[in-house]
Amino acid sequence: MKTIAILGSTGSIGTQTLEVVAENKDIKVAALAAGGHNLKLLERQIRQYCPSRVAVWEEAAAKELRASVRDLPVRVVSGMDGLIELSVMEEVDILVTAIVGMIGIRPTIEAIKAGKDIALANKETLVTAGHIIMPLARECGVRILPVDSEHSAIFQSLNGEDRKCISKILLTASGGPFRGKKRSDLEKVQVEDALKHPNWSMGQKITIDSATLVNKGLEVMEARWLFDVSLDQIQVVVQPKSIIHSMVEYVDGAVIAQLGTPDMKLPIQYALYYPDRRYLPGERLDFGKLSQITFEEPDMETFLGLPLAFDASRAGGSMPTVFNAANELAVSKFLHKRIRFLDIYEIISASMQAHKIIQNPTVEEILMTEQATYELIESRW
Ligand SMILES: NC(=O)c1ccc[n+]([C@@H]2O[C@H](COP(=O)([O-])OP(=O)(O)OC[C@H]3O[C@@H](n4cnc5c(N)ncnc54)[C@H](OP(=O)(O)O)[C@@H]3O)[C@@H](O)[C@H]2O)c1
Repeated sequence: MKTIAILGSTGSIGTQTLEVVAENKDIKVAALAAGGHNLKLLERQIRQYCPSRVAVWEEAAAKELRASVRDLPVRVVSGMDGLIELSVMEEVDILVTAIVGMIGIRPTIEAIKAGKDIALANKETLVTAGHIIMPLARECGVRILPVDSEHSAIFQSLNGEDRKCISKILLTASGGPFRGKKRSDLEKVQVEDALKHPNWSMGQKITIDSATLVNKGLEVMEARWLFDVSLDQIQVVVQPKSIIHSMVEYVDGAVIAQLGTPDMKLPIQYALYYPDRRYLPGERLDFGKLSQITFEEPDMETFLGLPLAFDASRAGGSMPTVFNAANELAVSKFLHKRIRFLDIYEIISASMQAHKIIQNPTVEEILMTEQATYELIESRW
């Protein structure tokens, strides 16, 4: 019997994690956390999975939830202290970080210090604080188990191999809803168009990130930290149907890939049960019907999210934080229809140009950099 806590239980990854729990009968859910935007769903989850502790970001929402679950033996906490309290609970074996954004940094670090394995979906944490998290995880003997489908595919393709023999990582990308379009086509695209991902149903922020290719940029940085490779060893390959979830090329030229139908429950379940495999209901690949898998180079001139991410990663230090923070705020503004799609690139690029890099930033410096980036953007846009 494993015991887990989930940060972001009401989101796309969080709800699918709970589906995996429901389909298997040997995982106990000790704690759930959410932002508080969907208290009805959170209450249903509490009644079904019986966690002993729940965190809601806003105290007002936590108060409302406390009243609606007062018949249950559950403690409802709030804010960052609440998230951290959940992440270090004695009985928790694995913390599932399915929260969105840099808010995941502190709870993840505290969970690692408390010896919890991390099933990591929250890529923003590694992008901004990978230089703190990965050495800390090694020091504490904690496993960082990737949930992102591409990183899970790489992780699976590395099974039994010597990591020193990696030649390169081939990170696949669907290309998003605007694949094939040029800059002029993107001038007037609407939020609704950007939210139509061809293969995956995900939270709003990551769906927009997929349309800008910022998500692929974040994944490049995530892969760099997770698999300890250089930027030059990561190649993005567009594979529109999301059948190959990523590949690893070895020094002898062999390429090992993981394939499957697009279903996030596979990488979630793999992370929860690693190194075991479990039966997972669902569609299987039918190679007879598939007939072909096509590949393209990413269009780095139109979709600036990717080259900007490479620039940020190459610059290092606090620059990935600026890239990420600028993107988080720009996406929020785009979702609220306050800026146009292409302004997202403009905001990221201008924020990066204005930034003076801090080498090896501490968590405090990362959070200060985030704040400074937000202030700069608010003063200009
Ligand atoms: N969705 C995917 O298929 C996918 C694939 C790979 C990686 N990822 C990564 O996984 C992470 C989650 O993505 P998602 O698509 O699942 O996002 P999502 O659907 O937007 O869900 C985000 C979750 O985080 C919670 N949350 C937001 N702010 C919070 C706060 N301040 N305190 C506590 N909880 C908070 C939300 O609660 P409310 O419901 O109350 O807002 C929700 O439960 C992201 O880092 C994303 O890049 C996602």
